[in-house]
Amino acid sequence: MEKIRIRGNPNLQLKGEVRISGAKNAVLPAIAASLLTADKIKLKNIPLVKDVTTILTVMRELGSKYFIRKNTLTIQTKRILSHEASYELVRAMRASILVLGPLLARHGKAVVALPGGCAIGSRPIDLHIHSLEKMGASITLEHGYIKAQADQLIGTEIDFEKKTVGGTENLLMAASLAKGRTVLKNCALEPEVVNLCELLEKMGAKIEGAGTDTIVVNGVKELGGTTHTIIPDRIEAGTFLVAGALTKGDITLTHTMPQHLDTVIEKLQTSGASIERVKNNTIRVKGTSEIRPQDITTSPYPGFPTDMQAQFMLFMTQASGTSIITETIFDRRFSHINELSRLGANIEVYGDKAIVKGKTLLSGAEILATDLRASASLVLAGLIASGETLINGVEHLARGYERIEEKLKNLGAHIERIET
Ligand code: UD1
Repeated sequence: MEKIRIRGNPNLQLKGEVRISGAKNAVLPAIAASLLTADKIKLKNIPLVKDVTTILTVMRELGSKYFIRKNTLTIQTKRILSHEASYELVRAMRASILVLGPLLARHGKAVVALPGGCAIGSRPIDLHIHSLEKMGASITLEHGYIKAQADQLIGTEIDFEKKTVGGTENLLMAASLAKGRTVLKNCALEPEVVNLCELLEKMGAKIEGAGTDTIVVNGVKELGGTTHTIIPDRIEAGTFLVAGALTKGDITLTHTMPQHLDTVIEKLQTSGASIERVKNNTIRVKGTSEIRPQDITTSPYPGFPTDMQAQFMLFMTQASGTSIITETIFDRRFSHINELSRLGANIEVYGDKAIVKGKTLLSGAEILATDLRASASLVLAGLIASGETLINGVEHLARGYERIEEKLKNLGAHIERIET
């Protein structure tokens, strides 16, 4: 079994330069969108992470052919050979649900396994399903699968009850090939949604209002091939910013878009870290010895991202005072707390709130990662804990962070992946 072994040091200062990879959450919908055309789609700056391999396996089963050279993916689905995404793959990665909209729009049929339980709470997909039904799809749930059919999706008005990133993306893709005009209201504003709109527009889709909460899509008969660049991963960047602030280090992040990180940067600055925009796409973080406690509440973009909650909570264990961290997006997204407590953190949970009492010295132990962002917070914890930390469940980390051990090593961390 693979584990991550970290030789921690409470006085560690991470220093140096790190190149931020392309965004996992932007590349997954972009790959799904390639199903909308028979032509070639070229995606640059893709991160080589496990979730990309998983969605490409789904795509291969559907009939796509692809190759990757360095960080550029060329993918083409001349004909859709199967319209089924199996349970095995959807279970491995919930975002496989993103093939539902494009399959329906181009092929008229889709069978996609229901994602089911997930380590970060129940994550329904009712909004995806009801919205596609509003566009004329007939959808049934049978034997754990969503079976959807629509000879032609028809434009309509959809007002999302709740902001949903995946739901907005699925509907944008479906609406691009629908008949007539679709008005999507209360859309997610995440940069990854905007990046998808840009790709769809280059493919020939008629989209107005990308990046606002009302997006209008005028359906077209056909979409074509294009080349598109995936935006930098703001969560990976945020994780390295926290790493710099946490270790009183000095890290320069390149190939990033600081404008996507405003809320995280603001919280880091009020905690005492100094953050400097060196150039448009380069940002430098310097930590200080006194970390001030911060209350944070996760919310949809441009609010504080839920995907940064676990890393920030760990950061707050080193603040001098008490912080309150409220998770409003996902229930049960606190699985890292038990593990951080095993390292010596003082965190109490009351419903959706975690009360973090700092500053606590952490000491290394064997711990278990249960989801992607939880594992990032455990790695950061291991770096500043005294002694050795062994992290199990490292497959979660590989889902979303490209070469994280190597990147951290280059900054001075003692971290390695071992086989036991
Ligand atoms: C995406 C991101 C994930 C991030 C999350 C929130 C990808 C691949 N994943 O996930 O990293 O943590 O956004 O920023 O981009 N909901 C419903 N019904 C639905 C859909 C969602 O009730 O049909 C709820 C969810 O349970 C959750 C909230 O809406 O409470 C937001 O979820 P959503 O934005 O859809 O998350 P994902 O797209 O799955």
